[in-house]
Amino acid sequence: MLGWLQRPVNISEKLEGHDFEPAHADYYDGKPNRPLNLLLQARTDFLSVWRTGDFKEKVSSIRILGRQIVLVNSPDLIRYVVVNRHDNFERKSPQMRRALEYLLGDGLFISDGETWKQRRSLVNDIVHRNRVPAFGPVMEKTASEMVERWNSMPDGAEINVLHEMAGLTAEIISRSVFGNQLGRESADAITDSFSSYQSLIDSVNLGYFIGFDEGLPVLRTPSLKRSVKRIHDLIDKVVEDHLAGRGDHSSMVDLLIRRQQRNPELNLDMVALRNEAATIFMAGHETTAATLTWAWYLLSQATWVEKQVQDEIARVCGDRVPTVDDVPKLDWCRAVINETLRLYPPVPILARQAKEKDRIGDIDVAPASLVLIVPWLLHRTPSLFEQPHHFKPERFLGDNRPKPYSFIPFASGPRVCPGQHFGETEAVICLAILAQKFSLRLRQGHKVEPHCRLTLRPKGGLPVTLHRRGASSQ
Ligand code: HEM
Repeated sequence: MLGWLQRPVNISEKLEGHDFEPAHADYYDGKPNRPLNLLLQARTDFLSVWRTGDFKEKVSSIRILGRQIVLVNSPDLIRYVVVNRHDNFERKSPQMRRALEYLLGDGLFISDGETWKQRRSLVNDIVHRNRVPAFGPVMEKTASEMVERWNSMPDGAEINVLHEMAGLTAEIISRSVFGNQLGRESADAITDSFSSYQSLIDSVNLGYFIGFDEGLPVLRTPSLKRSVKRIHDLIDKVVEDHLAGRGDHSSMVDLLIRRQQRNPELNLDMVALRNEAATIFMAGHETTAATLTWAWYLLSQATWVEKQVQDEIARVCGDRVPTVDDVPKLDWCRAVINETLRLYPPVPILARQAKEKDRIGDIDVAPASLVLIVPWLLHRTPSLFEQPHHFKPERFLGDNRPKPYSFIPFASGPRVCPGQHFGETEAVICLAILAQKFSLRLRQGHKVEPHCRLTLRPKGGLPVTLHRRGASSQ
């Protein structure tokens, strides 16, 4: 409906010598002052609505159908929103809450106020950086299983690496959250149901724009109900098994249950336990899968960077399989992951709803307005990053650091991603284990198109061919 108001998305991509400008949507050049067109365009793809002038350090405000939308694209003002005025801007947008409430209930990702405070410290504790080494063997084992599977394919075989990375990170988070007993079939069923849930919901809640401050509930179609029931039933079974002492004692669900047993005042009933387990599962795999997929795309084109990565792995690990203890020494691998997160932040939009009136820079913000921080824009703002559309992992090497609050793929402030260390470690170790053995090449002629739904992925996946690295090249 109204498709004629939407514009096709043009994509730019350039590779010249050792200079790579990977795929991104061209600047929007639709007629100004047509907010409805903009809203419809955003519904198709949120990355294609930005004009050249939006890539500046500034705060601006527009109205769509009477609703104020404030865009904050300056590091100091981002700090103001997410740190100084956290209490006023902690609330997720009605779009996000409505899109996920059916699946996650009051899970951390979409809760606020007292529930958020209480659950945040609980989840923090469970995925905290100190616990990451305990999950290292799960990451190493799962990535090594993928090496084995890829090894069984003929050289030059074509794979969809988005699909592969989604399977890899889902398996890692599934083993970490639910333990090893879940079994392949149930793990696949949960992952498939999460994917189909994402594809079935609409992330632009039109109800909000026509006056409903809380947005309107998402229509619970029979297929949506089926996906949710499948996920809830499987998670409930895992929780019941753990409660009956039949679960894996090193899993995150077990940690949740033990915390509840030690602190009964938390009041985590069956539904709350399920909501938090589902939240960690959802938040903890899509994002890392997207990061790894984009990293493969970048390395497949920038072969001079791929060589640095491969040489470094050989230098640090020799012939043995990389482990999480190597991660601090894998500088190029970490720089590639950081540069990937800058160019393709898996969560390209952070959307908040103002509780009360406020003032951001010189903009008066009305209660219930939508406040947007868009890492996609921020990370490509020329005054913050030189040659912002270019792939240059060197920006993250040595003492080079982006300006505070200019690089925020994990958000920032009290709502910063609690799984940041887990996700970074997982991305680096998976990249190192796979890149030690394989080079990936984009299918000839394939046009990569960044596409934003809840996360930022290449549209239609990423078809690549798989090439085993010869002993001589290691
Ligand atoms: C490269 C990987 C990852 C990226 C880029 C990422 C990014 C983010 C971002 C941007 C947010 C804030 C969203 C918002 O404010 O709207 C977030 C929240 C969250 N992430 Fe991650 N994440 C990653 C991996 C993980 C992992 C591995 C876990 C768990 C093991 C995790 C668990 C969470 C949770 C529970 C929240 C909600 C926190 C809250 O609302 O207080 N994330 N993540």
